[in-house]
Amino acid sequence: MNVRFQVSKPVLCGNEKRYVNDAMDAGWISSNGAYLQKFEKAIADVLHVDECLVASSGTTALHLACLALGLKPGDEVVVPSLTYVASANAITYCGATPVFADCDPHTWNATAALIEQAWTPRTVGVIGVHLYGMPADIEAIADLCRRRGAWLLEDCAESLGASVNGKPTGSFGDAATFSFYGNKTISTGEGGALYVRDLERRRHAKMLRGQGMDFNRRYWHPIVGYNYRMTNIAAAIGLGQIEMLDFHLSERRRIANRYLQQLFPLAAEGLVQLPVQANDYVNTFWLFSIVLTGGGEARRGKVMRELADDFGIETRPFFVPMHRLPMYLSNHIFPSAEFLAAHGMNLPTYSGLVDREVDEICDAFASVLRKNL
Ligand SMILES: Cc1ncc(COP(=O)(O)O)c(C=O)c1O
Repeated sequence: MNVRFQVSKPVLCGNEKRYVNDAMDAGWISSNGAYLQKFEKAIADVLHVDECLVASSGTTALHLACLALGLKPGDEVVVPSLTYVASANAITYCGATPVFADCDPHTWNATAALIEQAWTPRTVGVIGVHLYGMPADIEAIADLCRRRGAWLLEDCAESLGASVNGKPTGSFGDAATFSFYGNKTISTGEGGALYVRDLERRRHAKMLRGQGMDFNRRYWHPIVGYNYRMTNIAAAIGLGQIEMLDFHLSERRRIANRYLQQLFPLAAEGLVQLPVQANDYVNTFWLFSIVLTGGGEARRGKVMRELADDFGIETRPFFVPMHRLPMYLSNHIFPSAEFLAAHGMNLPTYSGLVDREVDEICDAFASVLRKNL
């Protein structure tokens, strides 16, 4: 396929190159250096919290957060089935068991009620996911966790900049994690970050990140840790990126508004479901996503293939629900997760995609969809 529109791509239009060159000139290319602290501070500022820690990826940040929250073998954690695999794997890395919840058919996120339905006597915590940039019903989920004496970890890999009632996603739970993979709203190539509310637990996460080494005694490792550090080079890119966060968010909002406007006629005809809009829930539209209203996985596959082959438009299917993957296979039936996974798709969403191009994508989509009704 001759790709004209990628589904996503990093846009490095700020100080990224200057900061990377500065780090290289100074010789600080590994996991020490001023950009690490500056990037951590900038992430904390977005969250309105006192301190964040960067990590080598969103996945390692999730693992560190689970360990810091005390997750251990025998425990169970409720997590939406419709998520990226890392949300569930982090639980498994700790020897604990993910227990899956279905999602709301309109917001595509697990709700407090669905999470409560999945609760077991061994549930110690919840990983709430803000899918594709749409905030989950996180206040109700946090309430549920408080009532049940469980912790809440927000997986904000896809929702940096999203908010509920003016409060950023990532600031509601006991911990939160972020991803800066190449397709995310801001990127460091590979990279992630975590926030841990409790200071002792945060210190533990920091120690685990750096091979479990004592902060005051070199080569003294009282616990088994990991090398989950970020490099100063990656942080230099991250600082350049996060300085431009408002720009990237406003670009995504403009693109989403254009998609919503152009695809409205298809939604009015009942052919597609568009993302829900709620004033108090600020969606970042990490990836603008739609759901075909019928036709099954085969039709979605055909639409995606024709968009790629005939128009050079790359799209992505929604994630495969966790309870359908070999290692988490179960007999559970989660109707919404299954329907969305078979019918949902992500459309090109990146800063710099101009309105005329969005229109072109929508025209192509409409013609391919009508051909395949
Ligand atoms: C919801 C979710 N959680 C976790 C991750 C893992 O992040 P990373 O790819 O940086 O390890 C991702 C993205 O890739 C994600 O989308």
